[in-house]
Amino acid sequence: MRRVYLDNAATTPLLPEVKDFLCRSLDVFGNPSSPHGAGEEARELLELARENVASLLDVSPSEIVFNSGATEGNNTVLRSVLSRKSRGNVVISSIEHKSVSAVARELARSGISVREAIVSKEGMVELEHLESLIDGDTLLVSVMSVSNEFGTVQPVREIAELCREKGVPFHTDAVQAIGKVRLSLEEVGYATFSGHKFHAPKGVGFMYLKEGMFIKPLLLGGGQERGLRSGTENLHSILAMAKALELIYKDFEKNTERLRQLRDSFERLLEEKIPGVRIVGKHARRNPSISAVVFPRRTGWEIVERLSREGVFCSSGSACSSGEVIPNEHLLKMGYSEEEATRMVRFSFGLLNTEEDVFSAVDRILKIL
Ligand SMILES: Cc1ncc(COP(=O)(O)O)c(C=O)c1O
Repeated sequence: MRRVYLDNAATTPLLPEVKDFLCRSLDVFGNPSSPHGAGEEARELLELARENVASLLDVSPSEIVFNSGATEGNNTVLRSVLSRKSRGNVVISSIEHKSVSAVARELARSGISVREAIVSKEGMVELEHLESLIDGDTLLVSVMSVSNEFGTVQPVREIAELCREKGVPFHTDAVQAIGKVRLSLEEVGYATFSGHKFHAPKGVGFMYLKEGMFIKPLLLGGGQERGLRSGTENLHSILAMAKALELIYKDFEKNTERLRQLRDSFERLLEEKIPGVRIVGKHARRNPSISAVVFPRRTGWEIVERLSREGVFCSSGSACSSGEVIPNEHLLKMGYSEEEATRMVRFSFGLLNTEEDVFSAVDRILKIL
């Protein structure tokens, strides 16, 4: 059976050129911290990768810190900024990824209060509400650039400007934005990224730290990454990640347009053939690769399981515990009913998907429904 992978927001396959590049780079084995020739070779490649990533994002190489991915990046930013004071508050959106919300909640036990900005039914952070939550005790505002569940593009530029006016540091989890929407980091203090969401290997990512922003390393040791992230750099994956980014940015408009066409024809077919189907954030600005579908019948969990048996891989918006489906908490917060919040399935497209994948997936969705 032909397999159709539509879970690119969870992780992506390597682009063939990235895979080739990665295999070739495996011959470079030096430790970038070693003072001899082998180390120097590795160090030069590492710094070249940093320069490439920085130039694609229009920032300075000294503002890029390589790490293991966005869970580490988000933990580093939140823990370091919020541990500076024993009291205060952090403002996040109500739909943040757990690597932001769980850290904020844990810190809440030590005196930091967590304030959640309301997100509309269309999956957009409500700016006015967010503004009303910021006060003189706000230590950090953290809002994702793009929702990993609904693909909605958040008003990051406006939030960043607001934070600048109020003198509050701003962090954005940009994992689902990079390579899919144009990023502007000008007003952003901290941004976090993960390689495996854009056709690079897993276990590698980076943080953007604006010049002069405070950061306390999560890991201490050999002082790599200018002392901000100790541990021998994951050189091969870093090189492959920079390569993936370079390839994606080279044809940015073409790539994003292709994703948009795949997603739009998928949604058009679903809406044509399944009465009562609903796309979350349909009328909001979305990144072109994510489609969050609320089906009129069956739980998201059931649909994902049945589709998996049919060779279509996607993701359920709700968890299942002891045979019971738990409604998606973010959909509930956005005003969806309990029933709707159990019926969401996320389909996400990547650069290796084809039009044929779309037709094939829709056929199999109709079959299992
Ligand atoms: C929005 C968002 N933030 C953070 C993460 C965590 O990234 P990583 O897998 O690099 O730890 C993910 C991945 O699921 C994500 O989608």
